[in-house]
Amino acid sequence: MSHRVIHMANDHFKLVTDSDNIAWLSFDKAESGTNVLNAEVFDQLEQQLQTLASGEPRGLVILSGKKNGFIAGADIKAFTEVKNADQARLFLQRGQDVFNQLEALPFPTVAMIHGFCLGGGTELALACRYRVTRDDTGTRMGLLEVKLGIHPGWGGSARMVPLIGGLKAMDLILSGRSIDGRSAKRMGLIDLVVPERHLRAAARKLVMEAPAPSRAGGLDRLSNNALVRPLLARVFGKQVAKRVARKHYPSPYAMIDIWRRHATDRRRMLEAEVESLTRLITGSTAQNLVRVFFLQEQLKALGKDKDYQPRHVHVIGAGTMGGDIAAWCALRGFNVSLQDQAPERIAPAMQRAHALFKRKLKRPNKITDAMDRLMPDHKGIGVEQADIIIEAIFEDAEVKRSLYKDIEPRMKADAILASNTSSIPLEELCDVLEKPERLVGLHFFNPVAMMQLVEVVKSTSTSSEVAARAMTFTRQIDRLPLPVTSTPGFLVNRILMPYLMEAVLLEAEGVPAEVIDKAATDFGMPMGPVQLSDTVGLDICLHVAEILAGHFNESVPERLSKLVAEGHLGRKSGRGFYHYKKGKPVKQKTAAGNWNMQEITNRLVFRLLNESVSCVREHVVENEDLLDAGMIFGTGFAPFRGGPMHYIDAMGATAINEQLQQLESLRGERFMPDRGWDSIMSSPGGSTA
Ligand code: NAI
Repeated sequence: MSHRVIHMANDHFKLVTDSDNIAWLSFDKAESGTNVLNAEVFDQLEQQLQTLASGEPRGLVILSGKKNGFIAGADIKAFTEVKNADQARLFLQRGQDVFNQLEALPFPTVAMIHGFCLGGGTELALACRYRVTRDDTGTRMGLLEVKLGIHPGWGGSARMVPLIGGLKAMDLILSGRSIDGRSAKRMGLIDLVVPERHLRAAARKLVMEAPAPSRAGGLDRLSNNALVRPLLARVFGKQVAKRVARKHYPSPYAMIDIWRRHATDRRRMLEAEVESLTRLITGSTAQNLVRVFFLQEQLKALGKDKDYQPRHVHVIGAGTMGGDIAAWCALRGFNVSLQDQAPERIAPAMQRAHALFKRKLKRPNKITDAMDRLMPDHKGIGVEQADIIIEAIFEDAEVKRSLYKDIEPRMKADAILASNTSSIPLEELCDVLEKPERLVGLHFFNPVAMMQLVEVVKSTSTSSEVAARAMTFTRQIDRLPLPVTSTPGFLVNRILMPYLMEAVLLEAEGVPAEVIDKAATDFGMPMGPVQLSDTVGLDICLHVAEILAGHFNESVPERLSKLVAEGHLGRKSGRGFYHYKKGKPVKQKTAAGNWNMQEITNRLVFRLLNESVSCVREHVVENEDLLDAGMIFGTGFAPFRGGPMHYIDAMGATAINEQLQQLESLRGERFMPDRGWDSIMSSPGGSTA
């Protein structure tokens, strides 16, 4: 293809017309690794569209100049700049106007998609007459807005609904999931899916042949029928309610409502998108979820040492944690050897790994490759080749020390030794090493494949380089690193434990487990504390509680020790606080109305907040943002509340402090406000509600 005219280039776009008079508009956002949409991009896109509208090209193909993808979505920074409803409305209207101009062009328009095409990217693609995507699993389309507490606002729902029908469109929008090109084709979202080398030809073909644009037919179309919609809306509402409560996450409910009222009226649906989203964007859920997005970016940025390229990971201990850590590292592409003193522990770990690979990789050749990367290594030969050794053996300082003494002479000179200990200060372990600076903590959470956070523990001896490398490695296996000090319980367990122990005390006082758990889930926790203790294992809870109790001069509730002594260890033994049937707790229907739910919630949550303040005071993490990130990604602390410290800020530190004092006089010393509250209350904004 010979290029004929280069029309106009502004910062972010380049427009080239070829010898067939097809205009190729390439989006390559200046000074940005990724294409995102903001006011400036809309201005420039509009200029380009106006130039095109005044010419007579045969058609337009919009593509991306970035290798990593088409468009990742709206520039999320733009959300934080929206201060009030008027600004929000303007921002949304602007996007709709430009996309409407794109849609109104009198010639064929094609979005040529590779890599991610998400949120606003999919909305732009939907404003084109046709869409073609590259055929690979890395190409992903979707409207992910609900994950940020909002819904599409640039015409994404108004255009997707008539294109693929309400049933499929609502499924995509309400779940916020993304799909690859083949699935998108099956759904009717795109016209062609082709290998990379045919991408341009496919786009060209759509322009030249200009087939009738695709529209939902048959059942898909019927799902938008005015008589069917109220019924379907109820079904959607019920499905959403299983996942999230309306009062915490209003956006999917708002979306269902818009669809039910306006599905077949494009203009009204566009207006409703703007009106509803204007309210949502300025609401606390969206603001806090955007905050969570940036917290996640902050953690990701901690692991960016590009020069560090470990290849071989050796894991010692093939138990609950070590086995799963080894599997996860192999899944992420590392060569892994797995050692255990008890050879019979390795086979079940290999089986679990296989199940994980099957679930995540699906294709048989990929599963085989991953299994090939994971080597059973009973004798520990891998120690000599490893760049990183992860130790996940029994939680016993002496056992760990003697292992370290034994393996260090065989380790590569620059290999890192990482312990998965959940409670032993690294200072108690590193003095047996010739090079204590190479020991770092990599504290994974159970289950490894589900929990995103890894606490990276730095002792007084750990070198900064080793800590930085450990964080980079954590990113390389697609987990989020949180740097913490080597103090008892580190951050997450230390803050979680008072909350769990308060739940145990409540239960021992006679409050039903179901009621306690409901108080927590109503607050927004993903799982109540009683069920969480059962899931973690009561023996493990007891062990951590004992260690922390020793440090903080508190006693462990008798009820917990008793259950463990009787062999009731939680879900894994079939009984803990709950009885379990097929791995699920059997819950009794109890009327929460008989209990003072507010007091139960306060007792649970305020202990967690008090310990958070204590950790800030002791600098367990560097700042309050990192604490919030740790609790959200390590425990699922209600994301729409923005994290414990952010919640304190929103509720008013003085108000919470006063309630803690009341609880202290009523319930005892464990509620005594930490000294750290003083500085929080005297900091700007800290004392206001
Ligand atoms: P586990 O008891 O399931 O597995 C420990 C494994 O280490 C066993 O298979 C044992 O045979 C092996 N082992 C013991 N001494 C060894 C030695 N000298 N050489 C080679 N293998 C040896 O224990 P789990 O639960 O996996 O815990 C391991 C570590 O991870 C502990 O430090 C624990 O505190 C920590 N951890 C545990 C979590 C959990 O939820 N289970 C969560 C986070 C950390």
